[in-house]
Amino acid sequence: MSAALITEFADLESLSAAAAEAIAETASRAAAERGRFSLALSGGGTPRRTYERLAALRMPWESTHIFWGDERCVPRENPASNYRMARETLLSRAAIPAANIHPMPCDPASAEAGARSYEAELRSFFGAEPAFDLILLGLGPDGHTASLFPGEPTLHESKRWVLSTPGRAANPPVPRLTLTYPAISASRGVLLLAAGAGKKALVESAARGDAAFPAALARAAGETRWFWSARD
Ligand code: 6PG
Repeated sequence: MSAALITEFADLESLSAAAAEAIAETASRAAAERGRFSLALSGGGTPRRTYERLAALRMPWESTHIFWGDERCVPRENPASNYRMARETLLSRAAIPAANIHPMPCDPASAEAGARSYEAELRSFFGAEPAFDLILLGLGPDGHTASLFPGEPTLHESKRWVLSTPGRAANPPVPRLTLTYPAISASRGVLLLAAGAGKKALVESAARGDAAFPAALARAAGETRWFWSARD
């Protein structure tokens, strides 16, 4: 499992510009080598500007497939929806074929059914191993990433690629779906975006290599990169 390579930026705008370029470079290489680019989006607020900048870059959109690393089980029009955020900042601005957009289906009354349905979709797309070309992740103030929260059983999953979680410790505290470590660790690359002085201690702990919070353990089979700025 690769160690995380951490790059610090002066501010969120320069972090977002670099992240968008990194995604575009990975996409071009994947499309050239394998004929498609599979990208799992992160939710939260940090990646918004990255998605807006990515929408304006030269990308192999026709062979790009968009997935999610996690989703809050709320209606897609709800401001808390990660799908809604991606639609506003990226999907409505880029010529991605509708069939290439793979939202997480999550009815709060049956989140587990949504997890199993999404896992089936991933298995149909990837086959035996969920080798995402790139998974974007964020860093929560408690060290969570995607919807893998400290102390939860989801951290110990060794087989399933997608799980549901009650999200009681989350903000907002709603049921969620999340990729698991088996899915993340099969990926060709992870790019974690973190901004804000409140996350400095977590980033420094991860840089030391001794961290055990969920985000620090989210490593790709390929390259794991963190883009960090103390200014959000
Ligand atoms: C979610 C995200 C979550 C997020 C972190 C950081 O659905 O909540 O996937 O893991 O990345 O909470 O969020 P900010 O970028 O808003 O700080």
